[in-house]
Amino acid sequence: MHSRYLLEKNLTRRVLLRGVAQASMLGLAGIGLNGCVGILLLANSEITGPGLGAIAGRKGRLYGVALQSSHLDDADFAAAVKSEATLLVPESELKWEALRPAPGTFDFSGYRRLAAFAQENGMQMRGHTLVWYYANPPWLEHALKDRRAAEKILATHIERVIGETSPFIRQWDVVNEAVHPSSTRGDVLRPSIWLDALGPSYIPLAYRLAHEANPDLELVYNEYGLEWDGIYGRRKRDGVLRLLEKMVAEGVPVHALGLQSHLRCHRPLDTDAFTAFLERVREMGLKVYVTEFDLDLSVLSGTAADKIRIAQNYAAAYLDAVQLSGDVRMLLTWGLSDRYSWLGSVRGDSTGALPLDADLRRGPLWETLRDRWAEV
Ligand code: G3I
Repeated sequence: MHSRYLLEKNLTRRVLLRGVAQASMLGLAGIGLNGCVGILLLANSEITGPGLGAIAGRKGRLYGVALQSSHLDDADFAAAVKSEATLLVPESELKWEALRPAPGTFDFSGYRRLAAFAQENGMQMRGHTLVWYYANPPWLEHALKDRRAAEKILATHIERVIGETSPFIRQWDVVNEAVHPSSTRGDVLRPSIWLDALGPSYIPLAYRLAHEANPDLELVYNEYGLEWDGIYGRRKRDGVLRLLEKMVAEGVPVHALGLQSHLRCHRPLDTDAFTAFLERVREMGLKVYVTEFDLDLSVLSGTAADKIRIAQNYAAAYLDAVQLSGDVRMLLTWGLSDRYSWLGSVRGDSTGALPLDADLRRGPLWETLRDRWAEV
């Protein structure tokens, strides 16, 4: 599907000029509208030239993608990953569900396939995730019933997984999504098998175990929905700040916040509260990364072009907000192409979610990421 979209106003002159040049090259009308500049941008196309990873690399930044090992069977897709990304994160292969089919076993086959692909193509890799409330094997919950057993299970897992992946993987999402606004707890921690087994101490314990396993690792706390407005966004930001401030005060080895950035393009951005939150995070000495960027257009209304335009403006506003308080040296999209986005299965439609469309052509989000992050 050829998607075109109209970009309005606040286009930088550079982007505008490029757009007009490329639009004219492709025989598309460049429309200058009475001072409020709009330009009919490019159809999706196999624009050749450096990929997002190469462009970001000129600024010393890393662009990466989440990748499932099974998708490497799609040769065209694998070639697109090679041309665009300089960093990979296993979409599922390093989660307990994939790694730990039974109590005494570790299955690194999926990870090893991705690691081989990354090493063959000179890509870096990051780890996701050592502790999560979700994607755990059925045996784990029962095994965690005893506190001492739970501590040993966690220690064995983290030591083994970091042992297997070091020194190739040097950055990990240690704990993922530990805060939830609907929590009835004062610390807003999300109920989970880990919280049940070990109490809130599971969080610092996980970071300390990861640091002991490899002191050179950069350890990240990863979370979603921090940009949202309303009581949800406010309670999540407060909960994450409280968690990070406590960890930093207690000397827990946490080095960065991962903003998942699954942008639900119909939900208002609370830009002021979000940027103030990020300033507080950076003041703690923590870095800020974008770890799972994609666009959910499923609740937007209007024509396909309207939805694409709204989503690009949303993405641009988000990227500007994230960078207002400082640099973002690493950005990953949660997949590369609409062909394989998780949104296809959970929302029924992944059109416009990722930088490449389902036919592996560079689309509007590719341009937005280039213009509002990779090149700035
Ligand atoms: O590998 C098995 C396969 O052997 C089996 O036949 C198949 C059917 O049951 O399941 C396959 O595992 C699935 C796995 O994805 C790999 O495809 C799991 O059931 C499925 O639950 C898993 O979904 C992933 C989900 O996290 C849960 O781990 C999604 O692909 C992945 O995009 C999603 O990613 C999360 C991040 O980790 C955290 N942030 C939110 C993000 C989106 O939910």
